Amino acid sequence: MPHDELLTIASTIALRAGELAKKRRTEGIEVAATKSSPVDIVTEADRETEALIRSLLMDARPDDGFFGEESGADPGSSGLTWIVDPIDGTVNYLYGIPHYAVSIAVVEGEPDPLTWSALAGVVINPVTTELFTATLGGGAALGGAAIHVAESVDLSQALVATGFSYDSATRAEQGAVIAGLLSMVRDIRRMGTASLDICFVASGRTNAYFERGLSPWDHAAGTLIAREAGATVAGLDGGAPSRDFILAAHPAVALELERAIRALAL
Ligand code: IPD
Repeated sequence: MPHDELLTIASTIALRAGELAKKRRTEGIEVAATKSSPVDIVTEADRETEALIRSLLMDARPDDGFFGEESGADPGSSGLTWIVDPIDGTVNYLYGIPHYAVSIAVVEGEPDPLTWSALAGVVINPVTTELFTATLGGGAALGGAAIHVAESVDLSQALVATGFSYDSATRAEQGAVIAGLLSMVRDIRRMGTASLDICFVASGRTNAYFERGLSPWDHAAGTLIAREAGATVAGLDGGAPSRDFILAAHPAVALELERAIRALAL
């Protein structure tokens, strides 16, 4: 199936899922369970939104695989797999901060970010209705208009976004990196939704984003969107992004920032 048709499926389903998440938020929500640590939470809305996405995707593409944050992996037979974060930014969502997203990507190959090739991806903030999209080789867009990474800037002029792991030992190390980096850049942002952090690099709203401990569903769609917008999105030493490390930025800014982070910690 052509990539733009895959994107249409992803966008249509992401819009419906976003509407459901937004509706559930107005009805009041509670933490349903904790996951990897006491601060890693899931709400019933996360589960319900993922169930909706899964059933709509399986109706549209019954032979494809599915890999979702809340319900895990289900291999298909077509060679394509849908990578889904039903509500990225669950903590923002819980607190009523209108900055969370539905993220859906379709990838070819094993559902492993070290080897997969993303074909189409969509990230939507249901509250602002901003819709970031991309297809492999087809460019990236925000609401249908092409987007591009910001021009290269010196690190001292860079607005850098980051995120924190749910693991407390990793958080302590991340805090130390931020303490060192803060005086080297224009400023730091911790907005709480990794998929949107990456899309903000893609659209030039920030100069860079980096994080450790990120899961595949948090960055599958965003990585394609940012790359199609001209950004480098990489892990350590220019490898594929992984749980160890992800950095998205204009290629020249990425080099400088990785060097600075390495000197501080890695
Ligand atoms: C989290 C958010 C956050 C990032 C965490 C992610 P979730 O995703 O994207 O910004 O810092 O690493 O786990 O748990 O809200 O889907």
